[in-house]
Amino acid sequence: MLRARLVHSRGLNLGIFCDGDLQGFVLLSHVLDEAEVLQIGVAPQYQRAGLARQLLTQAQAQLAGLGIERLMLEVRASNRPALGLYRALGFIEDGRRRGYYPTSTGHEDAVLMSVRPGG
Ligand SMILES: CC(C)(COP(=O)(O)OP(=O)(O)OC[C@H]1O[C@@H](n2cnc3c(N)ncnc32)[C@H](O)[C@@H]1OP(=O)(O)O)[C@@H](O)C(=O)NCCC(=O)NCCS
Repeated sequence: MLRARLVHSRGLNLGIFCDGDLQGFVLLSHVLDEAEVLQIGVAPQYQRAGLARQLLTQAQAQLAGLGIERLMLEVRASNRPALGLYRALGFIEDGRRRGYYPTSTGHEDAVLMSVRPGG
């Protein structure tokens, strides 16, 4: 799936390398005037240093240049770091999918969020 994503014609994939190693990445897809964050991750030893903020800011600038009006994503309701990141970057909550993600003890909600790139 990852390999297919990396060569997809409607994909936007960004990475940050430190000392030659990939330490942060974001994978996005776009169709017409909408885009979606598929995955974002930063290596534990590089977290809380602004890498994800840099990745999403750069991605939004590129998406705005492509005429994308809306960038969307889904995140587990318990994922505090990711929710903090998205809120800090201006994403707002559009709704929830109740019990969407399985957990070790049951299910948890998916939070649906979006932002207008560049605006
Ligand atoms: C979520 C994740 C990508 C954030 O990456 P990061 O590089 O550490 O984030 P940044 O340093 O750019 O943080 C930017 C802002 O996000 C928020 N944030 C980041 N980590 C946070 C945390 N642990 N708790 C609360 N807010 C957090 C803060 O507002 C932060 O700004 P500040 O440092 O000035 O306060 C990272 O924690 C990660 O890889 N998690 C595991 C994978 C994952 O959950 N991906 C998301 C799936 S939807």
